[in-house]
Amino acid sequence: AITNRFFSYERIQEISNYLRKKIPSSPKVAIICGSGLGGLAELITDKVTFPYNEIPYFPSSTVVGHRGNLIFGILNGVYVVCMQGRFHAYEGYTTALCAMPVRVMRLLGAHSLIVTCAAGTMNKEYNIGDIMIIKDHLNFPNFSGNNPLIGHNDERFPPVGHAYDREYTTSMKQVAIEHGLELREGIYASLGGPCYETIAEINLLKMLGGDAVGMSVVHEVTVGAHCGFRILGLALITNKCLTDYTATHEAVHEEVIRISELKANDMQQLILNFIGKLKEK
Ligand code: 6GU
Repeated sequence: AITNRFFSYERIQEISNYLRKKIPSSPKVAIICGSGLGGLAELITDKVTFPYNEIPYFPSSTVVGHRGNLIFGILNGVYVVCMQGRFHAYEGYTTALCAMPVRVMRLLGAHSLIVTCAAGTMNKEYNIGDIMIIKDHLNFPNFSGNNPLIGHNDERFPPVGHAYDREYTTSMKQVAIEHGLELREGIYASLGGPCYETIAEINLLKMLGGDAVGMSVVHEVTVGAHCGFRILGLALITNKCLTDYTATHEAVHEEVIRISELKANDMQQLILNFIGKLKEK
């Protein structure tokens, strides 16, 4: 596995230049598709597709349910770049490497970042299939010194308290109302994985204010905030986490994928129309 912690600006430039030569326009919006949510890419027209393994310095996506393509094209009238499949620390990559494509997409011209993921929930009010706008996050790997910004850095102590854009949140809520969809708004807790959580861990996360739990998003959002993206995060609730020892139904990856594919269409419509609103501005 590639273990580089640090990607220099020059290296990011090199990757961006490689891609820029092969695309007709500069992307305005960057989208990262989570487990089972890669179908959004099918709605993109005039596509230019790069399998990750053909892009210099890119790792490859190794997770079932995650395809591995960087796709450029038009979505609802806006030139976008879409990561169909993402990188996770549990694949053996550093969080800096996992989030490196975020910097590439920013350097190519994107100013808005939409991040989607599948997540479990420990909020008793939430249901399977709910879509949650991520209001804020708990970055657990960060608690133990695993932060994607570790290393040389032009901006040493970047603020991330407002990483998730309030205006984008309001705009997405409006889109949901127009489509008769109800959205949740909550806190996403990220753990390293790859195993799901113990019951004691879920109860801890719940106590700390978490509504949803997953293994991605936070390193991308940290890097996205660092390089000046306006960010919207959406988590699709695919399963309820066990909170007591009498319960028997544990989370399984196949079910996470099944539920996300079932609800992918709602997620796609929300994103499509959100992008339409961005265009109006
Ligand atoms: Cl229950 N836990 C984690 N860490 N990630 C998930 C999940 C649960 N469900 C979907 N993704």
